[in-house]
Amino acid sequence: MSFLSPSSSSSSRNFVLFLHIRHLCSFPPPSTSISAEKSKLQSEHDPDKALAIYSSLSPRLSSPVSSRYALDLTVRRLAKSRRFSDIASLVEAQKTHPQITQEPFLSSLILAYGRARMPHQAIQTFLDMDRLGTPRSAVSFNALLTACNHSQSFDQVPHLFSQITHDYKIKPNKISYGILIKSLCELGQPESAISILNQMKERRIEITVVTYTTLLDSLYKKGEIEAAQKVWNEMRDNGCSPDVATFNVRIMRAAINEKPDDVLKVFDEMLVLGLKPDVVSYNYLMTCYCKNGRMGDAKRVYEGLKEKGCLPNAATFRTLLHYLCRNGDFDVGLDVFRASAKRGKIPDFGTMKSLVEGLVKSEKLEEAQGLIAEVKKRFPDRSLDAWKKLERKLRLTGT
Ligand SMILES: *[C@@H]1O[C@H](CO)[C@@H](O)[C@H](O)[C@H]1NC(C)=O
Repeated sequence: MSFLSPSSSSSSRNFVLFLHIRHLCSFPPPSTSISAEKSKLQSEHDPDKALAIYSSLSPRLSSPVSSRYALDLTVRRLAKSRRFSDIASLVEAQKTHPQITQEPFLSSLILAYGRARMPHQAIQTFLDMDRLGTPRSAVSFNALLTACNHSQSFDQVPHLFSQITHDYKIKPNKISYGILIKSLCELGQPESAISILNQMKERRIEITVVTYTTLLDSLYKKGEIEAAQKVWNEMRDNGCSPDVATFNVRIMRAAINEKPDDVLKVFDEMLVLGLKPDVVSYNYLMTCYCKNGRMGDAKRVYEGLKEKGCLPNAATFRTLLHYLCRNGDFDVGLDVFRASAKRGKIPDFGTMKSLVEGLVKSEKLEEAQGLIAEVKKRFPDRSLDAWKKLERKLRLTGT
């Protein structure tokens, strides 16, 4: 089956030819060590240059881990420039590699397609294993499911799972099941995920805390509180301890649907188990205070982060600034903006716009201008036109 579109096939042929020629006549000078080239590849973001380094480097890499890493990096650079036919040429060319009969090597090609969000080519590569003489096990099966997860082709997963385990007699393991459950949750079918959980228990396959957390998140988001409570109890009965991420899904639910005191109750439960809330937990608490009009408490959560060993993240700044502006507290808003700039996490244009408008309204023109100058300086590409338009509208002199 040809997966290359007709319009791209000739340039792809040239590209393969190019790889071939490089391979034959331009081995790098002996002074370039493999590790030096690896680090060069790592820091090279130009896709063509990355390709050139890859083509001279890859024939000399003997360890599958290094090969996979180099391919992964190169594919990422190409994917960023949406050069999908070049990615296909690059990966397809690997199918003539002597190591292709080794499952880990072939799996790295499947993963590369996943990285590039090319699920159909990943599936085709799995099917090609018969032709290429590569034996299949859970290794390539999991690579395929991982590729589907990375490409966000969640709907493919349940289908591939049942078909492949049946057709090729592959025994799924905890990684395979983990991706299946994650996909069912992404598809909004946590009930099906629960029945898979039961299957895992019957087959005595370990259910990890990450899998439980994924499922709980999905159930809480769908408002299926009773089912979530059941899964939570089952997790504890199964000897699996919830971690901070697991508690955060409960905190999220409480912060959205309940009162700050309910959020604090979950915090207490964590502390009893010796778990420390993280910045995500505090962000939910702060948001809950904001939504309940308790801005003083929200600010105290923000100010207390450092003492709790947490650093504010982009969501902290964005949320707090949003609510400060809604409440007309532009002075504190300005402080929050400055802190966000210091950490390189300036909120989105919409939030910043409210702050600038508020500052202008309270006749803090200098501050408003300084703020715009700062944002423009840090992000010369981001929303420049929008800022210029806003400056004209507010009659601020542009900088
Ligand atoms: C699925 O992909 C996401 C993002 O690419 C990743 O964070 C997550 O760990 C993956 N999940 C599984 C179960 O592999």
